[in-house]
Amino acid sequence: MGVDASKRAAQLRDLIEHHNYRYYVLDDPEAPDSEYDRLMRELESIEASHPGLVSPESPTQRVGGTPMEGFAEVRHRVPMLSLANAFAAEEVSDFYRRVTQGLESDEISFTAEPKLDGVAISLTYMGGLLVTAATRGDGERGEDVTSNVRTIRAVPLRLRPGEWPSLLEVRGEIYMPRPGFEKFNQTALAAGEKPLVNPRNGAAGSLRQLDPQVTAKRPLAFFAYSTATRDDMPSTQFATLNQLRDWGFPVNPRVSRVTGLQACLDYHANMGSIRVGLAYDIDGVVYKVDEFVEQDILGSVSRAPRWALAHKFPAEEEITRLLAIDIQVGRTGALTPVARLEPVFVGGVTVTNATLHNQGEIQRKDVRAGDWVVVRRAGDVIPEVARAIHARRTVELERFCMPGSCPECGSVAEQVEGEAVTRCTGGLVCPAQRKHSIRHFATRKAMDIEGLGNKLVDQLVEQKLVATVADLFHLSHEQLGSLERMGEKSAENLLQAIAESKTPPFDRLLYALGIREVGEATARSLAIHFGTMEALQSAGEEELTEVNDVGPIVAGHVAKFFQQDNNLEVIRALVDAGVCWQALEEVATGQALAGETWVITGKLSRPRIQFKNSLVSLGAKVSESVSAKTSAVLAGDAAGSKLAKAQKLGVKVLSEADLMEYMRSRGVEDF
Ligand code: IVH
Repeated sequence: MGVDASKRAAQLRDLIEHHNYRYYVLDDPEAPDSEYDRLMRELESIEASHPGLVSPESPTQRVGGTPMEGFAEVRHRVPMLSLANAFAAEEVSDFYRRVTQGLESDEISFTAEPKLDGVAISLTYMGGLLVTAATRGDGERGEDVTSNVRTIRAVPLRLRPGEWPSLLEVRGEIYMPRPGFEKFNQTALAAGEKPLVNPRNGAAGSLRQLDPQVTAKRPLAFFAYSTATRDDMPSTQFATLNQLRDWGFPVNPRVSRVTGLQACLDYHANMGSIRVGLAYDIDGVVYKVDEFVEQDILGSVSRAPRWALAHKFPAEEEITRLLAIDIQVGRTGALTPVARLEPVFVGGVTVTNATLHNQGEIQRKDVRAGDWVVVRRAGDVIPEVARAIHARRTVELERFCMPGSCPECGSVAEQVEGEAVTRCTGGLVCPAQRKHSIRHFATRKAMDIEGLGNKLVDQLVEQKLVATVADLFHLSHEQLGSLERMGEKSAENLLQAIAESKTPPFDRLLYALGIREVGEATARSLAIHFGTMEALQSAGEEELTEVNDVGPIVAGHVAKFFQQDNNLEVIRALVDAGVCWQALEEVATGQALAGETWVITGKLSRPRIQFKNSLVSLGAKVSESVSAKTSAVLAGDAAGSKLAKAQKLGVKVLSEADLMEYMRSRGVEDF
């Protein structure tokens, strides 16, 4: 039994390490979690009945004994250097020039790597076993965080078989993947505990826990990026990373070998564009001269190597002053608190306004007018106030309180049970909601009234020339002439555009009415299902849920819309004004994709032009670039930045395989 148990334990350890490798290093898990858990339990039970078999590198021994008093100091055998930073392309070309001059060569190859925003760590392996994990500290001396790092499953306790040096010091970054960070914070908030500020702080804080049991519960991960010494190692950075991967270390799969300055800049631009979609935070990219002999020729200055550069992205978070909190009224009457800020450059643009989301968020974060706040803008997303810096509050500031009435029309504002938002109950009495509803009505994907921009709508409502969308169709030349910055010719053109918009397809009119949660696709489904306004108006919630993509919430909004007298009046007034929508069959046989803009990208099975011609013949425009206005993207194999952008903007993406099915759903039988 003793021999069998020992054999089985060894077998289980190998299996568990194999699954770890598949999961963390190859990112290609072979067994489900349940199988992994079963192996762990079996090993635990063997070790429980044969304590002599327990060894420190056993996967059961990741979470060790008792909390520590503090962290011991570790002297790094080789100092942990830092990196010179650059933001602008010129700084990168200066770096490139210094490198080419130093090496007397025209073209240099680099390993280009994402720069993880986590905590630097140095892992020492002796005889293939993890013996020490140390933080960077001041570069010379760090803290011994071995017990904590051992709890991170992505860090191998034992190397995979190979010809590793007997003393191996691997350096890399411990980080907290964003999904884990978000999940952790949700749980913390639900339990009334303090959430983590951001993934980087989360990683740093988790590593500094005195009780490894606490660290073990934090979702931490690891990527290796170098070794301290090069004895018995490959001769380039790129080959070193591949070697480390073979020995069982996770290495970032987006690492690339590039040659020349332009390729470095392209890598930076590409990582910048896919950054928001990554599961972890990066704050830039790192270029490292690939050949170690070349690195040695260049050497280091003041603790930073001359052969490497961190090319950073503009900061996503900056500090500024919150001047005031204003209330904005949206199309559906939602009152949104908006932060007016001292202008600050963040995420590549100057920001003066940022969202504060809702009353609950403001209370939870305790943000007050006058506070110093952290403003965050990641990718193209709306800037937000991430948090207030309470330590910088020197005087008593007033707490924010959501007004009980709409600041635009004075109607009662109410917070619906279970909803975070407060809404104005004034409906179309409220000028703010009127403006929004008219602006929306005129947009390209709705009635497409060219020349009716936001400023003009504001004037029309403020001058009481237009109260509902139906009033647009009664505007006269004289009335328009009385407006600011409205010449003869523009008035003429606008009236013409309004007149031309009178015969929209039914689905566009539905979309234009601005029913809550009814976007273009839902409007189209409703139009196809019901065919006429009368049929739609008399449908109950249950019948509505039979429509494609319509759930109980949307059904509720649609039913409620048609129960409100003022909405029915608007529809009647539209009819009276001569607005006459077209049934969908008439449209579908002609130009099913009229007014849509498509983008084609990636490798397709047939020449692109064939797809393009088919789309154009259905009335679509085919464009080269993706924007928020793009209707759909047809993405073939190996699609790159256009696909990434579409995903980021939430634009519909179709594969070639999806296309037929999709066209059929749009009433096109033979695409
Ligand atoms: S190389 C001498 N590569 O950035 C080279 N560092 O100041 C030293 N970092 O906190 C580091 N990703 O932990 C390197 N792919 C990467 C990196 C990286 C993140 C961090 C590093 C340190 C800082 C460099």
